[in-house]
Amino acid sequence: LEHFVSVEALTNEEVLALIGRAGEFKKGVHPSYDDKKYAVNLFFENSTRTHKSFEMAENKMGIKVIDFEPSTSSVTKGESLYDTVLTMSAIGVDVAVIRHPSEAFYSELIASPTITCSIINGGDGAGQHPSQCLLDLMTIYEEFGYFEGLKVAIVGDLTHSRVARSNMQMLKRLGATLYFSGPPEWYDESFDQYGQYVPMDDLIKIVDVMMLLRIQHERHETYGNFSKPAYLTMYGLTESRESKMLDHAIIMHPAPVNRDVELQSTLLECPRARIVAQMANGVFTRMAILEAVLAGQKG
Ligand code: CP
Repeated sequence: LEHFVSVEALTNEEVLALIGRAGEFKKGVHPSYDDKKYAVNLFFENSTRTHKSFEMAENKMGIKVIDFEPSTSSVTKGESLYDTVLTMSAIGVDVAVIRHPSEAFYSELIASPTITCSIINGGDGAGQHPSQCLLDLMTIYEEFGYFEGLKVAIVGDLTHSRVARSNMQMLKRLGATLYFSGPPEWYDESFDQYGQYVPMDDLIKIVDVMMLLRIQHERHETYGNFSKPAYLTMYGLTESRESKMLDHAIIMHPAPVNRDVELQSTLLECPRARIVAQMANGVFTRMAILEAVLAGQKG
């Protein structure tokens, strides 16, 4: 791969190869670029997991990380994303990991004849979050060893979630059966091509994977028409609902979690929760992504 910007651009074989490689990293395989490669992490939206797990991955791989903080950069003088990345490329950066509020911000960057660094999408507005998708797929594969026929629920703020968009596309392509739930006003009929809407109390009893989404309150004014306790009662994962899940079923959430909204706080670290495992797998999948784009660079 020269760039890693959307899951749609990957074949199933490429996805499975990246998951497999991430698994090797998790088992202790340790590539090292001996400080001969340079990365910059350009985060124009706040992040803890994506930013710091890319930084951890880069450090583990011996990739030098160039510090960049938008608030102390020439972005404050009005410099555009394109000109910022052009500058990073010109000074010798090999790979730029970017999170930006504009959907498909990467299009003009990867089309540029002058920008030579690889671009990794760390989240583009409400568009895609492909590295989160990959770590979610790794976590599911680690648990079940297959995707074909697996029953996966994606629940919550579907319309505003880039995690949902990436995951529904890839999971469907890999053969999983998808279900959706949550407030009907956050469900769009365009999701019908991927799966079906099922009320939460019916859904809870049939799925192998219960993937909850964070309410993206920064992308809309309120928690919708709900108070936080009302959301939990109507659409969230309570202890009572959790007790009705299949014995082998797991709980996922990309985090950060709105505790006692999407799920009851006590469930975040319960035996069937894989939320901490997702965070840990983020480092290994991002190592696999970095390795793939550095191997795919032209020239
Ligand atoms: N899951 C996720 O993208 O978390 P951050 O926003 O903290 O990176």
